Amino acid sequence: MAMNPYLAKLPALKMDSILETAQLAKADNHPQKIDVVVGAYRDGNAKPYILPSVLEAERRLLAQLAAGQRNKEYEPTEGFQPFCEAAVKLLYGSDLPPMDTIAKLAALSGTGAVRIAAAVFAATAPAGSTIYCSKETWPNHFPVARQSGFKNCVSYRYFEPKTKGLDYDGMMSDLAGAAPGSVVIVHGAGHNPTGVDLSTAQWDQFASIAKSKQWFVILDSAYQGYASGDLERDGYGARALARAKVFSASCQSFAKNMGLYGDRCGCVAFLAWDKAAATRVLNYAKAAVARPMYSSPPIIGYRIAHIVLTDPVLRPQWELELQAMSARIRRVRKILFDELQRLKTPGKWDHVVSQIGMFSYLGITTADVDALRLRYHIYMLPEGRVSMAGLNDESAVRFARALDDVLRNPQAKKQQPSKL
Ligand code: LMR
Repeated sequence: MAMNPYLAKLPALKMDSILETAQLAKADNHPQKIDVVVGAYRDGNAKPYILPSVLEAERRLLAQLAAGQRNKEYEPTEGFQPFCEAAVKLLYGSDLPPMDTIAKLAALSGTGAVRIAAAVFAATAPAGSTIYCSKETWPNHFPVARQSGFKNCVSYRYFEPKTKGLDYDGMMSDLAGAAPGSVVIVHGAGHNPTGVDLSTAQWDQFASIAKSKQWFVILDSAYQGYASGDLERDGYGARALARAKVFSASCQSFAKNMGLYGDRCGCVAFLAWDKAAATRVLNYAKAAVARPMYSSPPIIGYRIAHIVLTDPVLRPQWELELQAMSARIRRVRKILFDELQRLKTPGKWDHVVSQIGMFSYLGITTADVDALRLRYHIYMLPEGRVSMAGLNDESAVRFARALDDVLRNPQAKKQQPSKL
């Protein structure tokens, strides 16, 4: 049957490279497959991991439900506020502004938080305003910005391919012309996809410029605790923005640091610097964004996170579990690096250990990525982003050997190119 002409008007779109590649990887059943596509933590056997602290919190919630102490009625549109309070305390620590000057909503993980922040700032920004993202960024940032109402989406320089480090001067020079009311998206810690972050001095300077230029800043905080293993250190960017009193929205995700991926547990918090302004922002976010989109958030993930963040036993336990996850990632980085060194693999590989967080941005070509997939069943993003959390001690060595072969052997690249 011919397609309905109205439906045929819909543009034929593809999902972004993360979801496309993840599907390809899932369909490959080769026993030696290495899947380092999605930024999701895996245990030492490359299996999904449920944090024991999270499991205990969920058990308690289930017991309360069974005992009739809880129910499944609707949440308010702004979600479970004790969770939001615990979340912003975690991020801003001693630099937390007064709670009643912050507009906070439980959001559908980091994506939902960025979506609410962008929609609110699209309404506050002067007409025709621009939203800025780092040149390499999470591929969903611009689609989220466009769907939230921004027509002008512009990239600023961030990653320097030569040094595989940060191009801070390029970043600030690209942002120099950003008009007051522009929106700048930055990554809190463990930049996705490059694993390259601002130093503390650079954060302080960025925050003071953002304040003086009257930008709205969206801080995407999906990896607090993963970059350095230290929650406070990874919150430095957020705290610098708070100290400089920047109008900003922090978008926290508890997908990675609590493993609550599918529970969609996040928080968007607008630092409005005034009680009346916070109320205005909250009411707008609820009435114009959340209610027409999903009405109210789900129940469970936020309550799990709230228990873990506030319980005197589970909180320190979670911090230890997070440190262990982040340490395991650092260990596989080192194993991969050592093997590349041992093999004298062409190129410089220091960035494998200097980049931080879940991702390594290898700096290899799409042809190399294709060859790794076709020859070795190794799946990563076409730009060469590797989710280090998907490797273990054994596969890190295999990965290094495969990479060495592909980089030395031109034949390896003569196979069918990828369709990605
Ligand atoms: C990623 O970057 O791999 C994760 O944040 C998963 C996602 O939703 O893209």
